[in-house]
Amino acid sequence: MPIQTPASGELSGQVALVTGAASGIGAATALALAARGAHVVCADIQSAAATLSQLRDGGGAGSEVRFDLASRDSVAQAVAQAAPDGRIDMLVAAAGIGFCGPLLANDEDWDRVINTNLTGTFATLRAAWPFLKASGHGSVVVVTSMGAYRGGFYFGPEYNASKAALIGLVRHFALHGGPDGVRVNAVAPGFIETPFVAGLPYDAGAIPLGRLGQPADVAEPIAFLCSQAAGYVTGTVLHVNGGVFFG
Ligand SMILES: NC(=O)c1ccc[n+]([C@@H]2O[C@H](COP(=O)([O-])OP(=O)(O)OC[C@H]3O[C@@H](n4cnc5c(N)ncnc54)[C@H](O)[C@@H]3O)[C@@H](O)[C@H]2O)c1
Repeated sequence: MPIQTPASGELSGQVALVTGAASGIGAATALALAARGAHVVCADIQSAAATLSQLRDGGGAGSEVRFDLASRDSVAQAVAQAAPDGRIDMLVAAAGIGFCGPLLANDEDWDRVINTNLTGTFATLRAAWPFLKASGHGSVVVVTSMGAYRGGFYFGPEYNASKAALIGLVRHFALHGGPDGVRVNAVAPGFIETPFVAGLPYDAGAIPLGRLGQPADVAEPIAFLCSQAAGYVTGTVLHVNGGVFFG
């Protein structure tokens, strides 16, 4: 996945923490932000070495932090490690889990997905918040899902409930971050070809734009929301779904 955006330098000198950066949307976002000059801290439970290698091949700068989104302690340590110089200007929360489960989810699955996607993302935002405030122009983008709005046919209720709750989280922090210059937004992807959805029977013909999304289709809108081009945009959800759902 080469860096496709010409290096603009608009994020030079800034630090971006991207969770889920080892794969899919998070990896593409790490590349998009690095292409704009940011130092990208790639945070994931698995190795992000492949992302870092592509990022550096494209002339970007980055580092890696391993953590488990499902553990508050691990999240706090990862954020502290990500900001050794006390700096985080951007947080992109893309890490998440989901799976095809029954409508009447069992307690274990419910707790695991809510704890990871919702509580873990809150813990990440909470740990990064002092750094984002200190930057004076902090920006957060949370990756939610089209399923938060219209339900989902594949993933279970715990997944779509976790993603809907993240929108409430985004709006709450957007209200309270405004006075400190911290903008907080979300993207809601539709059907994006990543390992997350491998094997699911998505029908590209039913998508108005006629194709499944690629990780870069989501990464570029995320990079826009991170940038000062979106300096007056906060508390919003940008739908990135090829026209399946208009929001
Ligand atoms: N692919 C889609 O169609 C789609 C649609 C809507 C929303 N999303 C959301 O996009 C985000 C990224 O998903 P993707 O499609 O790129 O999938 P992906 O599987 O390619 O990437 C998810 C990343 O999250 C990491 N991760 C999972 N559990 C973790 C944990 N406990 N701690 C730290 N990292 C962990 C994984 O290691 C992986 O690198 C997810 O939040 C997902 O819910 C994806």
